Amino acid sequence: MQPVSLTISEGIAHLRIDNPPVNALNQPLRAGLRDAALRIAGMPDVQKVVLSCAGRTFVAGADIRELGAPLEPYLPDVLDLIAGSSVPWIAALHGTVLGGGLELAMACHARIAAPGTRLGLPEVSLGIIPGSGGTVRLPRLVPMSDAIAMVTGGKPVSAEAALAMGLIDRIASGDLQAEAQDMPAPAAPLLDRPVREAGAIDWHAQEQTLRRKSRGAEAPLEALAALRDSAELPARDAMARERERFLRLSVSDQSRALRHVFFAERDAGRSLRDIEAAPADLARVGVIGGGTMGAGIAAALLIAGSSVRLIERDAQAADMAQTRVADLLAASHKRGLLRDLSALERLTTGSDYAALADCPLVIEAVFEDMEVKRQVFTRLDAVMPADAVLATNTSYLDVDTLALTTRDPSRVLGLHFFSPAHVMKLLEVVRGAHTGPRALATAGALARHLRKTAVVAGVCDGFIGNRIMNAYRTDCEFMLEEGALPEQIDRAMEGFGFAMGIYAVQDMSGLDIAWAARKARAATRPADERYAHIADRLCEAGRLGRKAGRGWYDYATGTAQPDPQVAQIIAEESARAGRTRREFSDAQIMDRILSVMQAEGRTILAEGVADSAEDIDVVMVTGYGFPRHKGGPMFLAG
Ligand code: 3HC
Ligand code: NAI
Repeated sequence: MQPVSLTISEGIAHLRIDNPPVNALNQPLRAGLRDAALRIAGMPDVQKVVLSCAGRTFVAGADIRELGAPLEPYLPDVLDLIAGSSVPWIAALHGTVLGGGLELAMACHARIAAPGTRLGLPEVSLGIIPGSGGTVRLPRLVPMSDAIAMVTGGKPVSAEAALAMGLIDRIASGDLQAEAQDMPAPAAPLLDRPVREAGAIDWHAQEQTLRRKSRGAEAPLEALAALRDSAELPARDAMARERERFLRLSVSDQSRALRHVFFAERDAGRSLRDIEAAPADLARVGVIGGGTMGAGIAAALLIAGSSVRLIERDAQAADMAQTRVADLLAASHKRGLLRDLSALERLTTGSDYAALADCPLVIEAVFEDMEVKRQVFTRLDAVMPADAVLATNTSYLDVDTLALTTRDPSRVLGLHFFSPAHVMKLLEVVRGAHTGPRALATAGALARHLRKTAVVAGVCDGFIGNRIMNAYRTDCEFMLEEGALPEQIDRAMEGFGFAMGIYAVQDMSGLDIAWAARKARAATRPADERYAHIADRLCEAGRLGRKAGRGWYDYATGTAQPDPQVAQIIAEESARAGRTRREFSDAQIMDRILSVMQAEGRTILAEGVADSAEDIDVVMVTGYGFPRHKGGPMFLAG
């Protein structure tokens, strides 16, 4: 099938792109566009070209698999042909108009979009910048401040926002094709127009802010520099500089890493999507326990459109859970992530399991205590219909043991959400020894419904993510014993690109769940295994993290401050372990952390707990703050 088809009718050339799945600008499509542009140039009767796409979206960008090894014809040359055409080209947009797709639309002479279209330049999320005139054309259409936000942030904007800023000329009210045909085209070529409102930009301040925000990612800074070129150089020179930057970045380690994560995320959970069994219907979902996680899971489900029946221990706890969910929805609404608060009307709370009878899926998020969970599953087994899927959000407990408390363990699995559950994208799907296809298909459907990235994990202590985190957390404590301090380890991790260091994270999520897990393991821990007691001593001293006002840091002033009591405990434990304290450089700290992550990752793979090294990277990047532009620990291991 040809990716481009051309039909002429009454002086209008209709150019249709059809290159599934997302009309990416691969070599055959670029060649098809070039050939069509050349043919149209030789047709004196054509007065206008309407460019549109078949399928779910307009062009969603360059073909990411071709980045770093471009093939002729190059996109900037094809776009120059279009922009230089003597007859106007009208871009009729729908779906997601991204990257090279938006550059193509901007090379046309006018743009009309179907309602609901989203437009963006997400190149920075792939470690590159727009490479076909995007940074030069965009600020000639929209004010420079909007161009900076779009190009350095990479987030798409709505059709309404695009219209307001000048990126498109119209939103279609009816038939997109017919209205595109009637669009007038502007008189002056875009590149002859001046850049809009660049005088007000403080480039230095923009750079400082971006440098802080991008945590070592180089593309956003390059994108800003390219926009500055647009403001300060003639358009053609700025285009040439943009192309140089693009070509350099497209072969960079960061871009390779980001492309790896892009495809790894799309491959993750593929096995769940391929299951033939029918998933449970997700219109009504039960949640048991409305604490931190249960409330977040309920909020995620409500935001996605499900009705939720939330069961707590008693009426008072149910009321508290209701308030928690309402607060989460209100915060999401405030952040513009939820249109209105009517979602709350789909929540019912109570303490009677009978309310769950019509829920094909129930997710348990009660205390991390096997006995409490066992009782919950025994009750569920008694009241739920035989085909209902039962899930646990446990962090560490044995899903197989829990499954065996029910008559049909094939309907039990783990659904390990991350906090805050209505925000975090990762969902570890824990496949137990007995878990059946319907339960797994339901997990896949749930991930799609909630727009989360599912990664399948086997049963073990901590599944993929917590197990790797525990391994390096243990080693970090050894480093504390050997001479490092928590604030130094956090600084090294943040310098590497983590949003937060391991100690700041522990304080935020609370030290108690991992403490309980260590206590549960104590009986089976080999006597000769190295064990640092520092975290236990902090917990024993009531330093359970932010919620207690102190953990690895002190929070009396409202921000994390290193605490002499912690340094004292560390010094005592160094002495008890007979260690002579020594200096650690940030690089040595990161080497240790990465090598422990990689070693644990290899063991997890050998045991079959993770299906692939890519899955491990997805877990660490989407759930544990591993810097995306580094690709994940297994990617770095090569
Ligand atoms: N190149 C190659 N393949 C792509 C692609 C692209 N730009 N965009 C998506 N795909 C593939 C995916 O890998 C997936 O393949 P699979 O089915 O084999 O897994 C398939 O298309 C569908 O993608 P999604 O599962 O992501 O589908 P969604 O409907 O959820 O999302 C989307 C669609 C919003 C278009 C999303 O795929 C997306 O964001 N794609 C990337 C867009 C992008 O980054 N474009 C910029 C590219 S760089 C560029 O244009 C440089 C230019 O300046 C020169
Ligand atoms: P939490 O203590 O905030 O909430 C637990 C809730 O369960 C409380 O509201 C409690 O009243 C309720 N509950 C206890 N027994 C119950 C019962 N028999 N019936 C109904 N409700 C009952 O705990 P949190 O943090 O929400 O953790 C819940 C589960 O999620 C645990 O298994 C935990 O390991 C897991 N988890 C926690 C994460 C976190 O970051 N906090 C992350 C991922 C998983």
